[in-house]
Amino acid sequence: MIDRLSVTNFKAFGFAEIPLAPYTLLSGLNSSGKSTVLQAFALLRQSYEALHEEDGGFLLNGDLVELGVGQDVLHEDYIRLDDSEPRIRLALRYQGAEYSWSVRYEREADLLRVDDGCDRSGSALPPPLSGTGFQYLRADRISPAVSYPRSHEIAVRRGFLGSRGEHTVNYLRHFQDEPVRDEHLRHPQARSSRLLDQAEAWMQEICPGVNLQAEAIEGTDSVRLSFRFGTAGLSASNRYRPTNVGFGLTYVLPVVVACLTARPGGLLLIENPEAHLHPRGQIGMATLTCAAAAAGAQVVVETHSDHMLNGVRLAVKERRLSTGDVLVHYFRRNVGEIEMASPTVGPDGMVSHWPEGFFDEWERSLDRLLD
Ligand SMILES: Nc1ncnc2c1ncn2[C@@H]1O[C@H](COP(=O)(O)OP(=O)(O)O)[C@@H](O)[C@H]1O
Ligand SMILES: [Mg+2]
Repeated sequence: MIDRLSVTNFKAFGFAEIPLAPYTLLSGLNSSGKSTVLQAFALLRQSYEALHEEDGGFLLNGDLVELGVGQDVLHEDYIRLDDSEPRIRLALRYQGAEYSWSVRYEREADLLRVDDGCDRSGSALPPPLSGTGFQYLRADRISPAVSYPRSHEIAVRRGFLGSRGEHTVNYLRHFQDEPVRDEHLRHPQARSSRLLDQAEAWMQEICPGVNLQAEAIEGTDSVRLSFRFGTAGLSASNRYRPTNVGFGLTYVLPVVVACLTARPGGLLLIENPEAHLHPRGQIGMATLTCAAAAAGAQVVVETHSDHMLNGVRLAVKERRLSTGDVLVHYFRRNVGEIEMASPTVGPDGMVSHWPEGFFDEWERSLDRLLD
């Protein structure tokens, strides 16, 4: 497990040390640095090859994130690490070993080169970032469309769903009959352990009775997703294309499938799994993301949802995760700098303390309503 990320002079952070657990929930106001944490991981992953090259470094624009040029990523009020030019540094602790990468700032460059002084022997990525089992789902995910890409290389060989989840439908099509092996991930109401049946059962947490189909479109390099509602037979609806079905279903599918790919050593980075879902659906997604952590993957979730937080608290209370498996961070700005508070979740699911602004809007509104 990666148990700590340190970030120096990267985007929203001058310096931050972020402890990580099997399940880490990042919360906080808009623009408080949550996505920056996930982007630090994504940047390392997409720089995998570039970091190994002579004169290589951080590849700012790639298939996971497009961060721009040096000027965009260097923290505006950067900290001087020494008297020389500015540096951006990312560091991790993985299974007790330290990994760190320091790159030189170049204002217009989209490849920031590893610092000459940086020990390159420690610059290999740890397995969660270099291996398969990595998924990164951005908030700007796929929306309903009549077709999705069919890439054998990405979806099948690499098992990657795409940072926008754009390869999910092809992944589902190809692996639909593969069993979901880990019992934590298996939905109790699913017809079988097949990936498609499992995905369908978890989607039914969001929309009861929904059925999925993922199929190739003959003669093209595309695949198609369709939905049906109700049980097969007389009461079943026609198949609808995603564009004629509520937005939330398509949008959440990559989250469902990503969680079902969870395995020991994997790393799932998910922005706003709750987006576009009704409250009970949000609890369903919290349950599934917790199940992914219970199945052995490391999960880092960015969320604005009280229901996600409550879903994690329930997972601890119901012993699906232990208190030590969960970290909750709340980011907020204080005069330009980002502060982090980390309330703990006790064995009874209770939260140790509620910093000002930390999921306190219910209470604030109730106070006004009862006034
Ligand atoms: N180079 C930079 N220097 C300082 N702050 C930055 C820089 N780049 C981005 N930011 C800050 O980071 C914020 C975005 O942070 P982000 O992690 O995306 O927030 P969120 O918590 O909403 O996910 C921006 O609004 C900006 O305030
Ligand atoms: Mg964000």
